[in-house]
Amino acid sequence: MSPSRARTNPLRDPQDRRLPKVAGPCGMVIFGVTGDLARKKLMPAIYDLANRGLLPPGFSLVGFARRDWADQDFAKVVHDSVREHARTEFREEVWHQLAEGFRFVPGEFDDDQAFAQLKQTIEDLDRVRGTGGNHAFYLSIPPRYFGDVVGQLQEHGLTEDRPDTWRRVVVEKPFGSDLATAQKLNETLSGVFSPESVFRIDHYLGKETVQNILAMRFANMLFEPIWNSNYVDHVQITMAEDIGIGGRAGYYDGIGAARDVIQNHLIQLMALTAMEEPTSFDARSLHLEKQKVLDSVVLPRRLDLTTARGQYAAGWAGGVQVGGYLDEPDIAATSTTETYAAIRLGVDNRRWSGVPFYLRTGKRLGRRVTEVAVSFKRAPHLPFSQAAVEDLSHNALVIRVQPDEGVTLRFGSKVPGTQMEIRDVNMDFAYGGSFTEASPEAYERLILDVLLGEPPLFPRHEEVEQSWRILDPIIDYWADHGRPEQYPSGTWGPASADAMLAREGRAWRRP
Ligand code: BG6
Repeated sequence: MSPSRARTNPLRDPQDRRLPKVAGPCGMVIFGVTGDLARKKLMPAIYDLANRGLLPPGFSLVGFARRDWADQDFAKVVHDSVREHARTEFREEVWHQLAEGFRFVPGEFDDDQAFAQLKQTIEDLDRVRGTGGNHAFYLSIPPRYFGDVVGQLQEHGLTEDRPDTWRRVVVEKPFGSDLATAQKLNETLSGVFSPESVFRIDHYLGKETVQNILAMRFANMLFEPIWNSNYVDHVQITMAEDIGIGGRAGYYDGIGAARDVIQNHLIQLMALTAMEEPTSFDARSLHLEKQKVLDSVVLPRRLDLTTARGQYAAGWAGGVQVGGYLDEPDIAATSTTETYAAIRLGVDNRRWSGVPFYLRTGKRLGRRVTEVAVSFKRAPHLPFSQAAVEDLSHNALVIRVQPDEGVTLRFGSKVPGTQMEIRDVNMDFAYGGSFTEASPEAYERLILDVLLGEPPLFPRHEEVEQSWRILDPIIDYWADHGRPEQYPSGTWGPASADAMLAREGRAWRRP
């Protein structure tokens, strides 16, 4: 039998993969339930999962925060967040069933009584909602409180897996602010939870288009033979935002673009782009390959020439005039936090030796776009006149993560006419044009994976620590070298970032 027939033979594949996996009996406790993330992403994602029939009928959600709320007040907050931010349509019957499992526990993170009440609440839910003793604790709170919360959970006997039940902890970034703090954080978590029970969220890994990097590379014959330094000139990974920091001064100031985005989202995108084929898509094999790439990452010696940072100044956003970073509420006029960061990394292995990976991210840039652009070398010989290929640039494969999700292949084509003139053209795949299903939000996928106990899309602590090892010297270097350069809002970042690529005979893409 041919391999492809074997794979589609239903007798060899007892579980029909078209049937979505539904989480078993369980509940979730969210710490930091009054925060932006819970309101805009977590609660809507939970509703969307319920609406898609992927949560168990007795699913329960407990909010824990420093508010004087009753269960009904909490339910109202969830309701408003779902009405405003859910992806799927609002259905009364789904809402009612879900809302019956909402509970609220008021308290501080060091309040013994509140944790005793949490324990009681969870036991009640096991009894009345059939959550089966299975609970995930979602820490959507600043990391300085992680120790208090996991300590309290442990003291109150809330962290123990009993036979046939599970307890998991979900942590949001930032995973520390450097290697030392990340290691400390990992120690705190691993003192209480086993490694399989810790789920670190990097929401980019939950995005369909990010998972598609692996599908494209490893499900096709087309790309992999040219995915190496023989053919690739360089790779540009961009995560640009048109928004400023909004109301997040407290979180963002002192953190900055490199820690906020490069340490996690962009280094993960780079790892997926550069890694070798995993033996399978289970968590172990994926981590192994990602880890190998991260271990091979090298920093250039001259950080002055190969990194750039900036801070947005007044300018334009969405057709209106806006102030700069230093004018934002709660930002000191002396702040040196960068809102734009660009770095060049190398991967010292046989596949990638000599190929630069340029990573950049920024706020208040020209538009919102995330993409991975693989730029290929020019053909070694062009049998055309100079004039014919004047408008021909490098071939490129661009994976558009968002918005306008899809893939573009850029190559040279003859311009119609009597002359031989060659110009870049694009061949496009757009999700909307090929699939009727809308992509789930990243948080839907990741929350469901937590409840199912599926770890492949969650970075392990070794990856997190390795990312800090890469970034720490750059951040230290910046700390010793003055202020970030200002760039007007609505542009594509500081001039030093353009100069950084120009020195190497390249230019940033203007997506
Ligand atoms: C978060 C960062 O991780 O990602 C934010 O902390 C950023 O600063 C956000 O705005 C962007 O996420 P997305 O999914 O909108 O690209």
